Amino acid sequence: MSKNNQPSTWTKTSYRSKIALQQPNWPDKEHYERVLTTLASLPPLVFAGEIRELKARLAQAVRGEAFLLQGGDCSEEFARCTAPNIRETLKVLLQMAVILTYAGNKPVVKVGRIAGQYAKPRSSDTELVNGLEMPSYRGDMANSAEPELSARTPDPERLLQGYHMSAATMNLLRAFTRGGFGSLHRVQAWNQEFVKQSPMGRSYERMAKQISNALKFMDTIGIATDSPQLKEAQFFTSHEALFLGYEEAMTREDSVDGGWYDCSAHMLWIGDRTRQIDGAHVEFLSGVHNPLGMKVGPHYDTDTILAVIERLNPANESGRMTLITRFGANAIEKHLPPLLRAVKRAGLNVLWTCDPMHANTFSSESGHKTRDFENILSELRCFFELNWAEGTIPGGVHFELTGDDVTECIGGARQLSPDQLGLRYLTTCDPRLNAEQSLEMAFQIAEMIRS
Ligand code: PEP
Ligand code: CO
Repeated sequence: MSKNNQPSTWTKTSYRSKIALQQPNWPDKEHYERVLTTLASLPPLVFAGEIRELKARLAQAVRGEAFLLQGGDCSEEFARCTAPNIRETLKVLLQMAVILTYAGNKPVVKVGRIAGQYAKPRSSDTELVNGLEMPSYRGDMANSAEPELSARTPDPERLLQGYHMSAATMNLLRAFTRGGFGSLHRVQAWNQEFVKQSPMGRSYERMAKQISNALKFMDTIGIATDSPQLKEAQFFTSHEALFLGYEEAMTREDSVDGGWYDCSAHMLWIGDRTRQIDGAHVEFLSGVHNPLGMKVGPHYDTDTILAVIERLNPANESGRMTLITRFGANAIEKHLPPLLRAVKRAGLNVLWTCDPMHANTFSSESGHKTRDFENILSELRCFFELNWAEGTIPGGVHFELTGDDVTECIGGARQLSPDQLGLRYLTTCDPRLNAEQSLEMAFQIAEMIRS
């Protein structure tokens, strides 16, 4: 081991000698390498100090002193990298966080699936479209979703474009969260017009009014309400660390502690399909100091999970590892308790979080990939109850959501029905909760974390 527990054989390219699953098949390798060289010379998107700050906040969540809210699109799209889209996603996450903080009595660590969530794992390398075989869509950083052979051919220029889109998104997020938009004084303004008239919108409105009144009262009696805690929102970014060339190019050595940080986002997660102990993704992530998430689905093997955690976090540092379990409403009771016990028995410090989206997906009769609000809620409830039963701490949630008024998941207070899915089904990948469904989810979780 070298300093900071980095395995001594690790370099930011050591992953290249291992098998990397789920990579685009770049047709021109030289072009690809040229792009990586350019990317490596461009400024980082986040700074090591911010990454360390997030790790400290996640360590609080491990102890039950804070709660992680992670969410955003399944897959960001270049064409939807616009101010209104970024603003609406940020708004709904800020609203959910304030609900969890106020109604659930827990400080919330806010982490978006945003500013770099452009790479997707797929079940197959190619697919048949109108009888023609073509590469599967792997996210906007690799190819276009358009069903044309030329559009589907991976183009490394898209990595650069993804970097620039991420930078633009990051810039606006920083402006919004530091420049007054994220101030608690604006808590009422975050409610969207189309949500205001809904039951959830009204509940939010009532809560926001109470917060505004409390702030006014503090002002009246002379307590300062202009502290950064009230005027600024702390917001972090994350994405799946999938395309390793891009992540390598964004990895920089910090001048403060001499460690390597992947400066493409504050937090990175490793997908359920790429967490092989001897694979390239685990090798790469073992050497960067960011907080790491790991998805765990129903096909996990306990010993492998323990080995991967030990490999990624040999010093057993709190805040380094977040497990994001995704078993499905029907399977969580079978799969979560043995994992909770094994990790607890091994004495590993992890943050337990639940992704109630990915194992609750099904196709509606109309052919839309969807998820039912009830199943999502049911997996979450089980997640909390099973943790309490084992004496472990349910420390966070992971959602696919958007601030838009989309019709991608069924159910919720307005009982979105399967035949309404076609109305505003905008995702190119997995179905997301809309703004109203997201607020409803937050109110439900607030009840759970308060008890
Ligand atoms: C995702 O989060 O969009 C995803 C692909 O998840 P998983 O690795 O859990 O399947
Ligand atoms: Co997804």
